[in-house]
Amino acid sequence: SQMGRAFAYVILGGGVAAGYAALEFARHRDGGVSPGELCIISDEAVAPYERPALSKGYLLPRGAARLPGFHTCVGANDELLTEQWYKDHGIELVLATRVVSADLQQKTLLTNTGETISYGTLIVATGARASKLEEFGVTGSDAANVCYLRSLKDADKMVGVMRSCHGGNAVVIGGGYIGMECAAALVANEIKVTMVFPGKRCMDRFFTPKIAEFYEKYYAAKGVTFIKGARVTSLEASDGRVAAAILRDGRRLPADMVVVGVGARANAGLFDGQLAMEKGGIRVNGRMQTSDYAVYAVGDVAAFPVALLGGQVRRFEHVDCARRTARRAVAAILEPADGAAEQGKKGYDYLPFFYSRVFGLSWQFYGDNVGEAVHFGDFSPGSGHATAKFVVLWVSGGRVSGAFIEGGSREENEETAGAVRRGASVAEVAAELLSRGLAFADQE
Ligand code: FDA
Ligand code: NAD
Repeated sequence: SQMGRAFAYVILGGGVAAGYAALEFARHRDGGVSPGELCIISDEAVAPYERPALSKGYLLPRGAARLPGFHTCVGANDELLTEQWYKDHGIELVLATRVVSADLQQKTLLTNTGETISYGTLIVATGARASKLEEFGVTGSDAANVCYLRSLKDADKMVGVMRSCHGGNAVVIGGGYIGMECAAALVANEIKVTMVFPGKRCMDRFFTPKIAEFYEKYYAAKGVTFIKGARVTSLEASDGRVAAAILRDGRRLPADMVVVGVGARANAGLFDGQLAMEKGGIRVNGRMQTSDYAVYAVGDVAAFPVALLGGQVRRFEHVDCARRTARRAVAAILEPADGAAEQGKKGYDYLPFFYSRVFGLSWQFYGDNVGEAVHFGDFSPGSGHATAKFVVLWVSGGRVSGAFIEGGSREENEETAGAVRRGASVAEVAAELLSRGLAFADQE
């Protein structure tokens, strides 16, 4: 293959984790690296951005978020890293370039442009990709009005399709994060939504029945129809456009557009047979180092031991994890003697954190949803306009292992995080919630 460039550090992937890693490099190096020291290779055409904006601000009918406004690292209230920022800091952005193979023996990456890029240390930040309908035996993903949502390119397609469907019908396939957030965006764009998913309730691997009921009622009040326990078995298409979704029971749902959110898969395939794998991703230690000492992995693709969970290996597909593991890896690379080796044994000191914002709602979750769930507060969504506040604690051995809070203030969210982090006793937290007027709500 063609001769190519060599860098001391290469970040493979140009998403959230890559942006936060770049900022961490610049901070450690007091303003920048030497030219030729660090590059980011991304198959996207733009510098790293805050991916969560794609299903929220980016889809708004008015005042929508657009680049350069949401490049990393504004999501953590930090610097906005424009393409110019990378230039100013000596970081090479190799954009619109896909790595097609990796040779960890030679320490080289081969790109789709035919270049071989060598590294001293590699940070794998390839994230995840959307699962396709074809994986479930349904064809039609390529239709002009079928939308997935992972990249800016996908979001631009969805914006265009929504504009052409004003007042029409959308079928949303999947009741997970993408399904819920896109359904809310479609409603905001005055498109009628029918959500179809195989589970008994939305977000069923995570929400308790009571939490799910709250959001489903809220969505229903906004005009969203739920078809639960159902599967789309085919898409009826003509001239490259879908006209209806057909369910297993034969029902036909007319559709001016379809949005698909049926899960994600980590982009770890380049390293099959070269790196240890776990949980569908690349296995790393508490310093984000893979089974090859010169290779680190961060973000959605990395499975790491979590100290707070007793060293259990987990892989999270959430933005806070991408930001923190990216910083963790760069610190470990640039300060090998920071005590990290010691920490590496029990795992990374990370408190899992997920969140979502839809309509006027906003929830956060901290920790692990194991044990018994105890519900506090008001779970009645009223007309869909009422502000709600509730907390769900997951309890094991009398201690709070996980906590979900809807409608919390900044202070309340921080207190909730703190309670989980220190493994507060459920009695203590319950008393605190009751004193704030959040009563038990557990009678089913
Ligand atoms: P990320 O996917 O951001 O980046 C990976 C990059 O690698 C991409 O640029 C990709 O193109 C590139 N790449 C992959 N393979 C490559 C190859 N072979 N060659 C070159 N480049 C390659 N989380 C949350 O906590 N709250 C939220 O509200 C949301 N909202 C949200 C909305 C939407 C629409 C999505 C898709 C996701 C979210 N998330 C979220 C999840 C969050 O965005 C996700 O966890 C992070 O983006 C993960 O960051 P990474 O850098 O690991 O992957
Ligand atoms: P998900 O795993 O959250 O949800 C997948 C959904 O698809 C589930 O409801 C599941 O029941 C359903 N499903 C599975 N097979 C199906 C089938 N054959 N037909 C119909 N439905 C089926 O995944 P997602 O919502 O696609 O999200 C993709 C990625 O984006 C994830 O990594 C997610 O974490 C991330 N994301 C996160 C956020 C957030 O954290 N707020 C927001 C958007 C996206």
